[in-house]
Amino acid sequence: MSKITVIGSLVMDNVAKMKKFPEAGETILGYTLELFPGGKGANQCVSIARLGGDVEMVGMLGKDGNGDVFRQIMKDEGIKSEHLFSCDKPTAVAQIQIDESGQNRICVIPCANYEFDFADLDRVDDVIKNTEIVVLQLEMRLDVTKEAIRRAHAYGVKVLLNPAPAVPLEEDVLGIVDYITPNETELSILTGMPTETDEEVIAAAQKLISLGTKNVVATLGSRGALIANKDGAEIVRGYKVKAVDTVAAGDSFNGALAVALTEGKSLKESVRFANAMGALTVQKKGAIPSLHTRAEVEKFIAENN
Ligand code: RIB
Repeated sequence: MSKITVIGSLVMDNVAKMKKFPEAGETILGYTLELFPGGKGANQCVSIARLGGDVEMVGMLGKDGNGDVFRQIMKDEGIKSEHLFSCDKPTAVAQIQIDESGQNRICVIPCANYEFDFADLDRVDDVIKNTEIVVLQLEMRLDVTKEAIRRAHAYGVKVLLNPAPAVPLEEDVLGIVDYITPNETELSILTGMPTETDEEVIAAAQKLISLGTKNVVATLGSRGALIANKDGAEIVRGYKVKAVDTVAAGDSFNGALAVALTEGKSLKESVRFANAMGALTVQKKGAIPSLHTRAEVEKFIAENN
């Protein structure tokens, strides 16, 4: 069994680059259209592996060419994948637009990701029981994801939830999450509170803490991340870099956070490490192709601190 288990999505990304995003009803000419393997679950899992973490990927693929691509990636990255199941629906796909500043707009069509159901969760019960931390996102079925969170918590396994794409979650779910990692928009959706200013972000994070979430790590882009828990709130400074493509930056942040936490680093140290991983990711295009290795992250930290 692995120290870290990612239960999550795998998505083939169709990425179009353009000067600026089209308005509703507008046609524009773009620069390039490329295919990259991604999906929040797969991105987080590959990040963990490239940073030296012991990780297993649990999820659902189609029996198609895209599914074969992901199976090969798992093999190449040394990721355990005996519980990466196959179904008759196609592997998930996404349409992604990237503008000149590297910002993105993403639409995911879940396909096979939504075929992972309660019976599949039963098949991985022992995997959940015997891991140290389960890493989840919200790109699979919400009811199944919530049940995975409940099971992990019942087994005394830590839960790291990246609540993306965000939806409001019930208090009984938020109350058993050890680490939740929303960006500002997601934090606002989770809490129903504004998150425009640092003060508002802190207030929204404190609301989650009051509901029982142990640690909130709110990502703030290049400004870094806010840590909030019962001991207080603090912003851990990020790195200013030139973004070419922000896809998977949040995912690599989450992967790095999981690795550092399971290595026994403090939450603040773990967030520093995760900030560096995220800062490197935005400098390269694509999702999985933009994920850096441990050596690259350590070099970046040494050169930028
Ligand atoms: O977080 C980035 C990812 O979100 C992309 O790789 C895309 O597949 C979507 O899942």
